[in-house]
Amino acid sequence: MGQSLRQTIDSLPVRPRIGVVLGSGLGAFAGELSGRMEIPYAEIFGWPQSTAIGHAGKLVLGSLSGVDIAGLAGRAHLYEGYTPRQVGFGVRALGALGVRSFIFTNAAGGINLDYQRGALVLIADHINLQGANPLTGPNDDSLGPRFPDMSEAYSKRYREIAIQAGRELEVELKEGVYAALLGPNYETPAEIRYLRAIGADLVGMSTVPEVIVANHMGAKALAISCVTNMAAGILPQKIDHEEVLETGRMVRDKLVRLLKAVVPRIAAEES
Ligand code: HPA
Repeated sequence: MGQSLRQTIDSLPVRPRIGVVLGSGLGAFAGELSGRMEIPYAEIFGWPQSTAIGHAGKLVLGSLSGVDIAGLAGRAHLYEGYTPRQVGFGVRALGALGVRSFIFTNAAGGINLDYQRGALVLIADHINLQGANPLTGPNDDSLGPRFPDMSEAYSKRYREIAIQAGRELEVELKEGVYAALLGPNYETPAEIRYLRAIGADLVGMSTVPEVIVANHMGAKALAISCVTNMAAGILPQKIDHEEVLETGRMVRDKLVRLLKAVVPRIAAEES
C-alpha cells in the first residue's frame, strides 16, 4: 500500500498553483516539464487507478518556463466503474497541493459541423448528461458551498488568454459546448442529433465531474477538447478508439505548443 495523499503532499518540494489534466493520447505535455518528478497513482493511497487505454496514471510535477506545474497523466472515468467522488479525487488532490487554476484536456467527438477531425476547441460551457455528480453526498463546507454557482464554469478570462495565445501561434481555437455522457460506448446517430438539438457542439465521457469539483473549490478552469473524430452518424464510418488515439498523436505538437504558451500567461494572471 502506498503513502497517504497528505504524506505525499507534505513530502513534495514544490507547491504548484497550476494543474494540467491530460486526456486520452494527450499525455505528451508531461514530457515537457523540467525537473520532473513522477509519482504513479498506485503509490498514493486512495488514488483511483486509471485503466483506460492511452492513460498513463501518474502525477507529474515539474516546471515550465519557471512555473511549477502539477500534471495528471491519466484520469478516472465514470465508465470505469468509479464513483463520481473518485472521479473528482485527482482534482481535489491538486487543490490540496495548492492548485487554483486548472487546464483540462480531453478527446471529444465533434457534433458541430464547423469542426474537423484534429481541431482544438475551447469548452465554453457544458451539459452534464452523466446522471451523476461528484458533489453528491455530505458537503465538505471547508472545500466549498453546498450549491456552487456554475455560471462561468470555464473562466472567460482564461479563454481569452488561450485564444490570444492561439492567434499568435496560428493555432485556430473555436469555442463550444461539451456534452458529457457516461459512456463507455460511443453514441448512436440519434443521440448525436439529440445532443445537437439541445445545443452541444462536442461530446465526451470525461472532464465535467472534474470541472464541477474545481468550481466547487473556487478554482478556475480552462478546458481544451481535441476533436478526435466526428460524432456518430456525421460521416459514413464507424468510430473506433484507435482513431481517437491516432488523432491525439496527430495534434500532440499543436496542443503542447498551445499549453506552453498558455501556462505562463495564466500564471502571470494569477500572480
Ligand atoms: N463520443 C464520446 N466520447 C468521445 C468521442 C465520441 O465520439 N470521441 C472521443 N471521445
